[in-house]
Amino acid sequence: MDYIGSANVDPRKVTTFRLQEMKKLGQKIVCLTAYDALIARILDESGIDVILVGDSLGNVVQGLETTIPVTLEDIIYHTKAVVRGAKRPLIIADMPFMSYQVSADEAFTNAGRIMKETGCGGVKLEGASEIILQAIKRMTESGIPVMGHVGLTPQSIHKFGSYRARGKDPQEAESIFRDAVNLEKAGVFAIVLEKIPAELAKRITKTVQVPTIGIGAGPHCDGQILVYTDMLGLTIDFSPRFVRRYSQLYQIILSACKKYSEDVRNLNFPNESESY
Ligand code: KIV
Repeated sequence: MDYIGSANVDPRKVTTFRLQEMKKLGQKIVCLTAYDALIARILDESGIDVILVGDSLGNVVQGLETTIPVTLEDIIYHTKAVVRGAKRPLIIADMPFMSYQVSADEAFTNAGRIMKETGCGGVKLEGASEIILQAIKRMTESGIPVMGHVGLTPQSIHKFGSYRARGKDPQEAESIFRDAVNLEKAGVFAIVLEKIPAELAKRITKTVQVPTIGIGAGPHCDGQILVYTDMLGLTIDFSPRFVRRYSQLYQIILSACKKYSEDVRNLNFPNESESY
């Protein structure tokens, strides 16, 4: 495969072990979300290291207000598609709301289903409460790689009431720091830090041995992740400051569809060479 513009990309399959090595070597870990085989293939060819099948698929694909209604079946369906599309990246599936919070046993069973039915390389879950730490221990002891997620945790939207940045006051910052340390102790292979001050992310990144992956958490994290539709400018109603738009796909698709409509209506499509 030709990694255009990614001369330094190691062509070997990315593993959780490799991510730890990248942290030690100071090589940044590049992550994006994807929800289908088509996009997964493009991300793979571009040299992305980790693809997260995020429960953000609720917002992006299903048009939902929050990620709360996303089901285990939804995650399994989309992760299977992504696994078919991408070979080199490590593919991580998000565990949906209430698939891991009830008990460590239930979390373990659900994570096992995701791993067996999709062929992905690990799961991600939000938070660091006692029950979640137990679930992580249970999974990692049985060989299921787990990615943690602290800071803004969208599945807790109804507890916090907004998507504001977290950890701006010293007390909340300390609690996020402790959560990250506890996640490492429980056995996660990496931790997503979402929408927290850059200095807090730096402190966590320096303290824990596992890689940190930032989204709205500044430049000091070991890697970065964005929702692919945000960075490509497909979602236009959502523009937090941490999203950099690398394309304007909404406008590009809109004008292509308008041109197509015009051509069909004006009898300019199909022409002779496009017909049999
Ligand atoms: O669901 C998701 O896409 C995520 C990322 C934003 C980290 O959790």
